[in-house]
Parts: sequence; C-alpha cells; structure tokens
Amino acid sequence: MCGIVGIVSNKPVRGRLVEGLIRLEYRGYDSAGIAVVNGQGIVRRRAPGKIINLQTELDNAPIDGTCGIAHTRWATHGRPNKENAHPHQSGSVAIVHNGIIENFKILRQELAQNGHVFATQTDSEVIAHLIQFYLDRGMDEEAAFLACVERLEGAYALAALVGDANQTLYAARHGSPLVVGFGEGEMFVGSDAFALAPFTKRVLYLEEGDSAVVKIDAVQVRDQTGALVTRDIQTASISAVMAEKGNYRHFMEKEIHEQPEALARTMAAYIDPDSDLPIMGDTGLLLKNADRVVAIACGTAYLSASVGKYWIEALSGVHVETDIASEFRYRTPALSKNGTALFISQSGETADTLAAMRYCNRAGMGTVGIINAEESSIARETDAVMRTLAGPEIGVASTKAFTAQLAVLAMSALGMAHLRGRLSDEEIKTHIQALETLPELTRKAIATKTQCEAIAPVLAKARQTFFIGRGVYYPLALEGALKLKEITYLPAEGYAAGELKHGPIALIEDGTPVVVIAPSDPLMEKTVSNMEEIAARGAKIIAITDTAGAEYFEDRAEHTIILPDMPGLTGPIVSAIPLQLLAYYTALELGTNMDQPRNLAKSVTVE
Ligand code: F6R
Repeated sequence: MCGIVGIVSNKPVRGRLVEGLIRLEYRGYDSAGIAVVNGQGIVRRRAPGKIINLQTELDNAPIDGTCGIAHTRWATHGRPNKENAHPHQSGSVAIVHNGIIENFKILRQELAQNGHVFATQTDSEVIAHLIQFYLDRGMDEEAAFLACVERLEGAYALAALVGDANQTLYAARHGSPLVVGFGEGEMFVGSDAFALAPFTKRVLYLEEGDSAVVKIDAVQVRDQTGALVTRDIQTASISAVMAEKGNYRHFMEKEIHEQPEALARTMAAYIDPDSDLPIMGDTGLLLKNADRVVAIACGTAYLSASVGKYWIEALSGVHVETDIASEFRYRTPALSKNGTALFISQSGETADTLAAMRYCNRAGMGTVGIINAEESSIARETDAVMRTLAGPEIGVASTKAFTAQLAVLAMSALGMAHLRGRLSDEEIKTHIQALETLPELTRKAIATKTQCEAIAPVLAKARQTFFIGRGVYYPLALEGALKLKEITYLPAEGYAAGELKHGPIALIEDGTPVVVIAPSDPLMEKTVSNMEEIAARGAKIIAITDTAGAEYFEDRAEHTIILPDMPGLTGPIVSAIPLQLLAYYTALELGTNMDQPRNLAKSVTVE
C-alpha cells in the first residue's frame, strides 16, 4: 500500500512526479522520494513524512530529468525514516516498490555474500541490488530486470530505472496493481489510474505476472511466461476534478456531503425505470440459486456486510455468514458448492479480501464483488460485479463508500427476495420507493452537523466513548466506534446494546459518553431499556434517533440527534451520517489529520 509513479517524457518530469505522488498519498504517507536520470546518472531526493517534506527537500536541493520514478511509502519493513524511503538504489539501478518481498532475507544474504552492501532495513532494497547483480554479470537491462523479477516471492508492483542514462522505465506486477498510461510524447506508470488522471486517461492495466518495458512512445508487455502479449488500452473513468477538495476543508468533509448524490447515482443503477423493480444483472442468477451467502470484507466494508446479513436473511430467507477476510483466508472454511461469496471493498485491492476471493474462485463458488473502484483486481476477477457509484474516495476513513455499499446490499436483499418469490412486486416497490428517498433523507441527516459539532468537545475530552445499538444498528455502533478511533486516536468501543450487561457495563463511570443509536423500529424500546441501565450508572447519553423516537430520550439524553423518519431499509444508511459527523468534528476539535490519520493508508494491499 505504497504509491508508485513513473514518467518517461521529452519534458522535465519532476513536477508531475510530485503531483502524481500527492494523488497517491492516500496509499501511505510515512516517507516519499523521487529518482530521475539527469545526464550524470541517477539522482535521488527522499524525505521522511508527508510529500510536503519531499517538496521542501526538492526546493533546497533541486533535481530534474526527463525520466523518473517516485514513491510514497506505508512502512512494512524498517522504520519510516529517510534512510528507508524509496527509491532504493544500487549502482546504476533505482527502484520503487509496493508490496512485500517475502524471500528478501535469503536474497539479501546471497547478495551480501557477493559483496553488496545494504543501506536500509527494507525488504524492497534487495530488488535494486538484484538487478545490479545481474547487470554486473553481463546481462542487458531488460534481461537483468526480468531475471530479478523471476526470483521475487510475495506481492509487488514495481518500477525501475535500469542503467543510468536510459529513457526507459521497467515495471512489473504480481499481487499489487499497476497501470501504464499513454500520453502525447510521454508514457507513465502508476499504482492506479487516479494518479495519472491529470496527465492521461488512456491506460493499460498490467495483469498478474506481467512485466513491461516503457519507452517514450511505446510499451512492450510480457506475461508471466515471458511471452510478448497485447493488453487492451482503456479509457479510465476517473476524472481529475473529482479528486479535488473544492470548497471543503478536508476530503472527509467533502465526501460526507457527497452522500446524497452518491446514493442517488448508486440507487439509479439498480432500479429498472420501467418496472420500478431491482436490476440484478449477472448477479441475479448467482444470488437466486445460492443456498447460502458468505459475505467477506475488512474494516468498514465488513460492517456493511454485517448490516447486509440482517437484510438478506430477513427478506430472502437465505442464510448469510459474514467473515473478516484476514480470518477467512487462513482457516479452512466449510464452503457450500451452491453458495455464493460476496466480497465488499471500496478499493477492490485489499490484499486479504482479494486473497479470500481467489480462494473461493478456486473452490468453484460463485463470486460477486460489491466494489467502488471499477478497474480494480476484485472487480476484474469476480464472476459478477455490483458497483457502488460513490466516486473516488480519498479520505482514509470510509464514508460515502460505506453508505453506497449499504444501498447496494439493500438492493441485493430486495433482488434476492424478489427472485425467490418471498416478496411480491408491490412489496418490493414499496421498499424501493423508500430507498429512493435516501438523497433527501441523507441531506437532512447532514443538516445535523451543527449539533454534531457542538457535541464534539464532549467526545474530545472523554477518556473513552461507547456506541450501542441493536439489530441493524449494532454494526452501526461498531462503525461509529471505528470511525471515531481511527481519526481521533481516542478509545472507543461499539457493543450490541443487549451485551452490555455481560461485562462491558463495568466500564461505565460518571460522565462516560455513550452514543445510543436507536431510531424507531421494533427493537427501539429494548435499546431504550439498556440506555436506562447505563444512564442510571452515570453515562452521558448521546441519542441518535428519529422524530418518532425522540420522546423516549427527552429527559434521559444529554443530547438527542433527531433524524427524519426513515422508512423501510433506509435507517442504517441515514444513521451512518451523524456517526461520521461526530468523528469528523471531534477530530477537528483535536486537530488530528482526519484525511490521513497516523499509521493508516487508504488501500491495504499488504496482508
Ligand atoms: C475505515 C476504513 C477501512 C476500510 C478497509 C477495507 O474507515 O476505511 O476499515 O473499510 O480497509 O478497505 P476496502 O473497502 O478498500 O477493501
């Protein structure tokens, strides 16, 4: 989950390398660096921390050239200091790498025995040394690069400058994504099409095991057997402008506000305008015939799967298991041949989710991806894809992708119930009409921001905060806690409201804030009883409810956030918004960087 950019051009590349890195900063921001070929060989500049530090370094000691590579790092092996920053260099080779080289210790030992001296603690540095090792043995540049790639085990996307006077980029992909971009009189490589969006939209996606030699006006691609192959050039759909902050202070703030449009776009893709019934496309058959569904994902995407479980089981009667991808892939799951596996991911590149998907593909299960990034690995490798049309999500904490995932899951649950004859056309239409009000309901939910901002200082001062809910609001409680802890670094826990008495209630002390998510539904009164129990023990209640539920909290809650009445399946989608706003304003109050919280990265492409 580092970011890579490379440019070979007839113009200087430094400015655009840095611009590309800024667009990849969501992938990691522990350190950054660039290397260019400048007539005297390969020169590098690197700096710990964010790209702004690299810019300062480049201002103090400028370099430029017409061929170069750049990297923004999310540290795996070795501390995030300047020494360990990419590009790594050995003689006339410089490389940037995203992924993990699993056999790096063996390679490092072998190279050390051959006189190579290592300057870093990273796994990646062996790549530069190994290419140089083969050059020293008389191989030409491409042969040396390919010989190196052949020996690497693990996951990688890499770009290299080989030979210190060359207008050529070498690139390879195995387990981590990499695209090649086609410009006018210049070519690019990048971790994703988004990084290249200001320069070109014409891209080619390298496939697993591909390597490429990229020159100013051409690219030559080989597959994993070494055979020359042709890969299609596509027009990437990501527009540069969609990734700007506009009038907002932060991407997270902008993305929270984009939810009404994101939901309108997503819903429109799944409703047949003539019949007002769900469009299920290729997924229809897979979900219709499934005797069981297993929904697999990580983090926030896993929590959307957990809401989906409630909906699919209740509406279609099909048993749903949810699994955290990193657990699923390493146990021996009992899979049903007639089952369908659902993979939910914003990026479509999360290493554990991708590995779990490949496991199910190998086992012969039907696989469906609920994916935001259209051209991602999971989108390309699942049997069928249901896109969330949230648009690019740049803030590390997922907001609009989460609610768009919920919208797609709601439509899947309805589609399954319809295909199996569990709900009549009329019942389905009533549900769909309710879901069609999401843009309006979420707009009203965003209007609670002033209130959320006023509550933020309470959370910012608290030693810890709890979130509770029942039914579909239980995963929401987990999501509220996850959002708060990841961007504010404050301890927060989510619990099923009925579980408090089984242990966690011991943590409640005078003044502990507890966010109670309880819009009116058949379980609300039970949650209210749990609220009474903790209020009696001194908890400071922050209620999230709807107009019908408000009276239950009147004299009990310190703050009551009142959402509009939320019909049908809309409740968890709309209720996510005040949770996002509470986390956002608490982070603002504390001055943390909510778009790039410490230790995190947007796309987790290492396991
Ligand atoms: C939290 C968050 C993460 C992601 C998780 C999965 O706000 O964004 O927990 O949900 O890393 O990422 P994707 O959806 O890209 O697979």
